[in-house]
Amino acid sequence: MNDAQEDETPATDPSAKASDQRNGTGQVPGDPPVPKRSSQNPMAIDAGHDPVNTLDEAAAAAELNRLAQAIARADTAYHGHDAPEISDAAYDALKRRNAEIENRFPALKRTDSPSDRVGAAPAEGFGKIRHARRMLSLANAFTPDEVSEFDARIRRYLGLPADQVIRYTAEPKIDGLSLSLRYEGGRLVHAATRGDGETGEDVTANARTLADIPQTLADVPEVLEIRGEVYMRHGDFQRLNARAAEAGNRTFANPRNAAAGSLRQLDPRITRSRPLSFFAYGWGALSSPLAETQMQALERLRALGFTINPLTRLCDGPQALIAHYRQIEATRADLGYDIDGVVYKVDDLTLQERLGFRSTTPRWALAHKFPAETAWTVLEGIDIQVGRTGALSPVARLRPVNVGGVLVSNATLHNEDYIAGTDSRGAPIRDGRDIRIGDRVQVYRAGDVIPKIADIDLSARPNAAAPYDFPQVCPECHSPAVREPGDSVRRCTGGLVCPAQQVERLKHFVSRAAFDIEGLGAKQIEMFFADEQLAIRQPADIFTLAERDGAGLARLKNRPGWGETSADNLFRAIKARRTIALHRFLFALGIRHVGENAAQLLARHFGTWAAVHACLTGPADAALAELTNINGIGPVMAQSLIDAFANPAERAAIDALVAHLDITDAERPQAEGSAVSGLTVVFTGTLTRMTRAEAKARAEAMGARVAGSVSAKTDLLVAGEGAGSKAAKAEALGVKVIDEDAWLALIGA
Ligand code: IVH
Repeated sequence: MNDAQEDETPATDPSAKASDQRNGTGQVPGDPPVPKRSSQNPMAIDAGHDPVNTLDEAAAAAELNRLAQAIARADTAYHGHDAPEISDAAYDALKRRNAEIENRFPALKRTDSPSDRVGAAPAEGFGKIRHARRMLSLANAFTPDEVSEFDARIRRYLGLPADQVIRYTAEPKIDGLSLSLRYEGGRLVHAATRGDGETGEDVTANARTLADIPQTLADVPEVLEIRGEVYMRHGDFQRLNARAAEAGNRTFANPRNAAAGSLRQLDPRITRSRPLSFFAYGWGALSSPLAETQMQALERLRALGFTINPLTRLCDGPQALIAHYRQIEATRADLGYDIDGVVYKVDDLTLQERLGFRSTTPRWALAHKFPAETAWTVLEGIDIQVGRTGALSPVARLRPVNVGGVLVSNATLHNEDYIAGTDSRGAPIRDGRDIRIGDRVQVYRAGDVIPKIADIDLSARPNAAAPYDFPQVCPECHSPAVREPGDSVRRCTGGLVCPAQQVERLKHFVSRAAFDIEGLGAKQIEMFFADEQLAIRQPADIFTLAERDGAGLARLKNRPGWGETSADNLFRAIKARRTIALHRFLFALGIRHVGENAAQLLARHFGTWAAVHACLTGPADAALAELTNINGIGPVMAQSLIDAFANPAERAAIDALVAHLDITDAERPQAEGSAVSGLTVVFTGTLTRMTRAEAKARAEAMGARVAGSVSAKTDLLVAGEGAGSKAAKAEALGVKVIDEDAWLALIGA
């Protein structure tokens, strides 16, 4: 099966990072407050003298208006221009007076009330920046064998002879958050977090406060994007936490959270007060090449004033990589900052270019992670969560235990076989020992992955512990829960009548890689799901919320936890998402097996929603043939898509949703203007100048579709040496046939 292995994750991801929890202000909850204002300038604005209880409505409204203007002006001077106009005391007096009047006349509270704002930043939080080149992640390896396989994969892909050794760079993988810095004409013009890889948050003002980040660079390409990791050193982290604890503020759980919370501040003054560091490790868009090798490029960045990790080395072949990994691992505890592995990159940039990318990771790099951390604790219970596709996921409730610096109280138990001690084929795992409530269990976690149970201690099993009885009905809707033959997962058969599936699908719909609606996260979805008047039961309901019975706003602003501003902001955020990119839309539908990668592949293949719709609502056999012809989409995913569109309730929900949306066509980067864009190409025979895999990947990167067999839809057959029946079939169908040299000339290689 070549389907991307993508399905749901348990509803509560126990590994969710604290830094990912948005609270709408961009600040980590409980962060130290905004620093005090300067007290240089005398009070310039009158905070009002009449006792509040003598004001009538008209006077109060007029004064609130005056206060809003004065406070906005003071905020702009302070935050925007770094030049305060009034003293701290005067500013506080204005805010206090404003709050007193609002308390007495709640109905007069303005939609732009200064009480609802922190600083002068826009209420929506950070601006967005689209990365000129996507910020990708890295494929992971945990064992030396996987490192050798990485090297072997690269040689196979490039078709290198057995005696040719590949040279790599190896450097620590810093446990922080990635940042992209864009320099134009040698000046730093913006800085963005990774975000979803395509669009990040604009943290330019904050990045400028880091001593490790140069503001100007001499003698560099006109456009130069530097990528690297923002992190916090152990000593700095401890001092920061000690200060926060002394001031009675919340402390950070670990240096990574502290770094993320400090960079993602709406007020750059807070970032400036935080001890952040930056290692540069790569680049994004460039108007001209930096060097010929990765190492030379890093040396060049060092000469420009960036800090390059001092443990970066050149290694010839996988054995040298593993040796350097061992050295770094041995010094890990003394480095003074957190690392979670070693990153390997092919040194020769021409080879990097030829290797290119899979959908979210480069083929030329690998993260060799340190082994997982483990700890023993007691399994206190097993909860069953119902996911968006109905999967019943058992979750271990653990007596909280510290695993490598993180307090863990949940772990995944995968499925019923895993609890019973067998794999999907019925073969024993853990020597066949099952997992029972009350057992002493060994928990492990590696990096960001969800904690798991590695082992159990039979000698500590309580006498009363009984084998776990996996539920046969859905714990949420009581529909039968069944296991299809060959499926390791038991699923609720309730479909959209199951409230758990409905809620999980909605949470998925608004999630970061899907509609990503600011102010509408998992918590809010649960609130709206349970609300009678403002019910959100299916995605289309989100887009009718504002106009619901002509009173959406009036109702929402009176709900606990909401006010006029937050309600307004939510409706604005929803409206903004009426225009949505095709791949996000497809991913958001939450169709089983269709993850982010698959959604991208579908969007690139079809280009428009109309084309997707036409395929999936047309004859099923034609749809199956077209879908499985897309590289990366297999029969299981194809069938899942077809089934979803054949189900009347699903179709109705999709149609109702689409009526509110403007789905934008997929971009086909590089496709425009390429000689092969839009063509369906088939390769056959032996290619001598590159492997089949490389030829295929390059063709796709240039906008062609690569199919496995010749049909009337084929535009071009590239026949290598010894081409046989496919060439004959192409001739018979009148398909153009060219040889390898002609193909290379066509793509300009
Ligand atoms: S190279 C194309 N090098 O790891 C991918 N990444 O798991 C370029 N990271 O998002 C990444 N140290 O935030 C690279 N020396 C290093 C790194 C590193 C930390 C992070 C980075 C990336 C994540 C991928």
